[in-house]
Amino acid sequence: MIVINIAVQYLALFLTINQLMGVPFNQPKFCPSTNWNPNAITFANTSIAGACSNVIFINKTNGIYITENCNSQVQVWVEGNMTPVRTMSFGLNQPQGLFVRTNDNVFIDNARYNGRVEKWMLNSTFGRIVMNVTGPCYSLFIDFNSTLYCSMGTQNMVVKVPLNSGGVVPTIAAGTGGAGSSASMLSNPHGIFVDNNLTLYVADCSNNRIQSFAFNQTNGTTIAGTGASGTISLTCPTGIMFDADEYLFIVEYGGSRIIGSSFNGFRCIAGCRGPGSSPSQLNTPYSFSFDSYGNIFVADQTNCRIQKFLLSTNSCAETTTSQATTITTTMNIIHSSKKMIQLTTPSKFTDTLPITTNSHQSVLDILKYCFNVDPMRKELQKLKQKKKKKKCPVIVKYVYIDAPSIQPSEVPFLSAEETAM
Ligand SMILES: *[C@@H]1O[C@H](CO)[C@@H](O)[C@H](O)[C@H]1NC(C)=O
Ligand SMILES: *[C@@H]1O[C@H](CO)[C@@H](O)[C@H](O)[C@H]1NC(C)=O
Ligand SMILES: *[C@@H]1O[C@H](CO)[C@@H](O)[C@H](O)[C@H]1NC(C)=O
Ligand SMILES: *[C@@H]1O[C@H](CO)[C@@H](O)[C@H](O)[C@H]1NC(C)=O
Ligand SMILES: *[C@@H]1O[C@H](CO)[C@@H](O)[C@H](O)[C@H]1NC(C)=O
Ligand SMILES: *[C@@H]1O[C@H](CO)[C@@H](O)[C@H](O)[C@H]1NC(C)=O
Ligand SMILES: *[C@@H]1O[C@H](CO)[C@@H](O)[C@H](O)[C@H]1NC(C)=O
Ligand SMILES: *[C@@H]1O[C@H](CO)[C@@H](O)[C@H](O)[C@H]1NC(C)=O
Repeated sequence: MIVINIAVQYLALFLTINQLMGVPFNQPKFCPSTNWNPNAITFANTSIAGACSNVIFINKTNGIYITENCNSQVQVWVEGNMTPVRTMSFGLNQPQGLFVRTNDNVFIDNARYNGRVEKWMLNSTFGRIVMNVTGPCYSLFIDFNSTLYCSMGTQNMVVKVPLNSGGVVPTIAAGTGGAGSSASMLSNPHGIFVDNNLTLYVADCSNNRIQSFAFNQTNGTTIAGTGASGTISLTCPTGIMFDADEYLFIVEYGGSRIIGSSFNGFRCIAGCRGPGSSPSQLNTPYSFSFDSYGNIFVADQTNCRIQKFLLSTNSCAETTTSQATTITTTMNIIHSSKKMIQLTTPSKFTDTLPITTNSHQSVLDILKYCFNVDPMRKELQKLKQKKKKKKCPVIVKYVYIDAPSIQPSEVPFLSAEETAM
């Protein structure tokens, strides 16, 4: 009965795809007007994280992983505690790239002197080889199909190897090996990201641009920086990330700032006063990561510190000033057809989302992420063919506007918070 009440009263339904299953990092949802406090706080200094920390990775529950290049180790912290819960060092020599799938699947670059990328299991005191490479992996990434990518800055290319295949010898994903600025070439690539269309994005540092390579295509397209007019001028971008709405965020090593984008285009969001060491400045920041709240952690290299820019406003200034109750829960897909997707919580609360040609973006996202079906490509037929649907947890946020009769405790959700829209 409660189901019907809820369905009638909800005004908006936001779905955040697992921050769906496969994606082990945070992709927060921001508004065009979102701001971060311009003055960062220092999360870790030289004594805590070493003099030249390189790559920072934050998982879904805010476990913080940092490669400490000079100390030849990777350290791990959990939220709110400055004593590392884990240090990985045996056999590592100046590690750089890092990607964490789960706490027993930590992938670490060990290529500069040892020619390999390693996977560290939980409690293991050493890593196992997952890729043999001939130059350091400045960045690592694993796509949803379990392919491991390494950006080899010194070799001007990105290489990849399917994990679980047993093979450790990579093939070229982008770049030709020579430094250059043509569509098929890269120059000193650093940060990489692969989206769920298997499009590869590369922070092409020495070309001052961000390239995107559609799956299996050798020619890239410039999406920001030199060659993409109307975007933003970049100086050696080294880190990239997309938010929940697929807007690009960039850390600019050469420009010592962090760039964000939204519906309104690109803008500087941190370190906007130019290089320096004050709380509002960065000096050659190398990589960054969002925590689950949307705060930005950045490895501020020359200042030998990890800075944290707190999210200060993230209100999308909707038209209403009503009180709203927001309830967030995890649901599983229990049924799907060409016409609808049915979701349920562990406590058996269910909801049905219709699939139409103008479905809400979140429904399209479910099709894409959970079923690998592109509704625009008339592939809906696939939904019928798959006999067994895999379990695909989805985080659902219901917003009830002016619904005083609904108390969070009355509905069978996992957590609830009161928010004003
Ligand atoms: C690093 O931070 C710790 C704790 O805040 C402090 O005790 C220490 O003096 C700092 N070290 C340096 C080199 O600034
Ligand atoms: C995040 O990392 C911490 C530290 O390793 C770990 O305890 C936690 O289980 C991880 N969370 C997820 C979702 O993997
Ligand atoms: C890892 O070590 C912890 C503490 O020593 C232990 O509780 C846990 O079961 C171990 N996990 C694995 C997978 O070995
Ligand atoms: C990968 O490198 C290791 C040494 O680091 C070597 O023993 C192994 O044979 C290499 N594998 C392949 C397939 O080249
Ligand atoms: C996933 O990876 C395998 C190799 O491990 C490959 O054969 C397959 O084509 C990939 N799937 C997609 C959708 O790229
Ligand atoms: C994936 O491809 C589809 C159709 O080609 C497109 O509509 C969608 O925007 C793409 N998604 C991303 C993240 O590029
Ligand atoms: C990638 O492209 C090559 C030729 O350009 C083709 O032979 C190969 O089958 C393609 N691979 C995939 C997985 O599409
Ligand atoms: C890649 O771009 C070059 C021009 O930069 C063009 O000559 C070539 O045909 C393109 N290759 C493909 C496969 O589209």
